[in-house]
Amino acid sequence: MVIMNEQGNILIIDDKKSDAEEFERVLRVEGYEVETAATAEAGLARAKQENFDVVLTGLHLSGSDEQRKEGLHIVSALQAAKPSLAVILMTAKPTTQTTIEAMKLGAYDSIIKGRVDWNAFTTLIHQAVEDTRFQRERPKVPVPLAEPDAIIGTSAVMHAMYKQIGRLAAKSVAVLIRGETGTGKELVATALHRHSARHDKPFIIVNCAAISEQLLESELFGHEAGAFTDAKARLIGRFEQADQGSIFLDEIGDMSINLQSKLLRVLQQKTFQRVGGKETITVNVRVIAATHRDLKLAILEKEFREDLYYRLNVAVIVSPPLRERREDIPILVEYFMHRYGKELVGNPEPQIHADALDCLQEMSWPGNVRELENVVRRALVSSHGIISLSDVQEAIAQDAVAKTVAPLPAGDQPLTAYVADLLAKVMRSELDGAHARVAAAAEREVYSQAIQLAAGDQSKAAKWLGVSRPTMREKLLRYGLHPRIESATKIAA
Ligand SMILES: Nc1ncnc2c1ncn2[C@@H]1O[C@H](COP(=O)(O)OP(=O)(O)OP(=O)(O)O)[C@@H](O)[C@H]1O
Ligand SMILES: [Mg+2]
Repeated sequence: MVIMNEQGNILIIDDKKSDAEEFERVLRVEGYEVETAATAEAGLARAKQENFDVVLTGLHLSGSDEQRKEGLHIVSALQAAKPSLAVILMTAKPTTQTTIEAMKLGAYDSIIKGRVDWNAFTTLIHQAVEDTRFQRERPKVPVPLAEPDAIIGTSAVMHAMYKQIGRLAAKSVAVLIRGETGTGKELVATALHRHSARHDKPFIIVNCAAISEQLLESELFGHEAGAFTDAKARLIGRFEQADQGSIFLDEIGDMSINLQSKLLRVLQQKTFQRVGGKETITVNVRVIAATHRDLKLAILEKEFREDLYYRLNVAVIVSPPLRERREDIPILVEYFMHRYGKELVGNPEPQIHADALDCLQEMSWPGNVRELENVVRRALVSSHGIISLSDVQEAIAQDAVAKTVAPLPAGDQPLTAYVADLLAKVMRSELDGAHARVAAAAEREVYSQAIQLAAGDQSKAAKWLGVSRPTMREKLLRYGLHPRIESATKIAA
């Protein structure tokens, strides 16, 4: 029986005595109670028997047998037997694969032996003990295994994000997810709910940008019969529906100031009133919010309440843009090909040529994963199963053209006239997004003239415009000006 220690009880599993001793010494100095085990079997048995707060385990536990990764087995076995226990993997030679594998299996963290920053290490252990104890006090509900590939990405930035999701999931604090459009904020919100103790309770999604202010208030908080003209009967709002579960408030930056106050009260006191109602309703709902807007800027413009911002800004997850994790593009492409292959081309295992994949990997993807997904779908359709470079190029050109550029100014039409014409159409509600259209049209024009003057020499044109060679290539693709796309220019015209 281990002596329960206020500071924390740690088990170290490692076959290398000297390594174990070094960690043990440091932890004892910090006041922890430490036990060691030299084999996987002994370690597992002890970990299951006793209430340790943290388990540190080596990766290879049978001498130098590099094939056997007993540490990973310990991680998954303890995740199953004691889901709240923090298990930290110690590796000598880190490989991304092992680290990700460990995190996916439920490791709390992984550290690299021989490169340990002891200050950071003791902070980590302290946090791990707290988190284990926090979770142990929660009611025990089996955590379902997440769909293994719901969020795709093995890059370091994604790895860091998974860790954050894992750490925040178990807590009931409100979480703010920030990130550009199409980066997967909704997937993150879903993962937070699925990995929480609330996973078998409702998960309600509300898009705050899609509904008018008055309707949004009823939608969120409900209304009493007769609260306003159209309120024939009582309506139970989303917050009440989400009781005991989670609510995902997408595009929270678009919520009106008035509703923000009401939301703040829910966060602080867990109470609200239905529209037109007097009864105070109490709910236990975990709030997950997302925005692609810069809320700090919105505060300056008096569009977002500062107190709400600080309330939400305690736990933030940043969903990284795709251009900061280009190494994930191949597996994302693979994933989408697999996901849509059967439906779109009757082939569950479509292929892609290396040069086509290179092209996808070079793009900057302002629309992030959503845009990549669209392009892969288009390329699939035109490919009949094996995606070539020209399938990709056409898909990119079509995607961009369809979205913003059309209609372009006709040949010799002066810019002033074009703008006047565009704005007139906007005022008649025939078009929207005037700024994006004009900007895209002007950009297309400058790339078009430059590449013509340079007689197709992309390096020369890039130099004249002061842009990099990859940017040049990307813009030509997007505007259907790339020499390899004959058809796309016609679409744009
Ligand atoms: N890491 C990822 N792995 C797999 N699919 C992803 C990933 N990220 C995004 N997607 C896919 O991209 C699309 C957009 O994702 P999502 O709706 O979550 O983005 P978002 O950040 O909420 O964007 P917006 O701000 O425009 O609402 C979805 O089809 C989603 O499945
Ligand atoms: Mg979204």
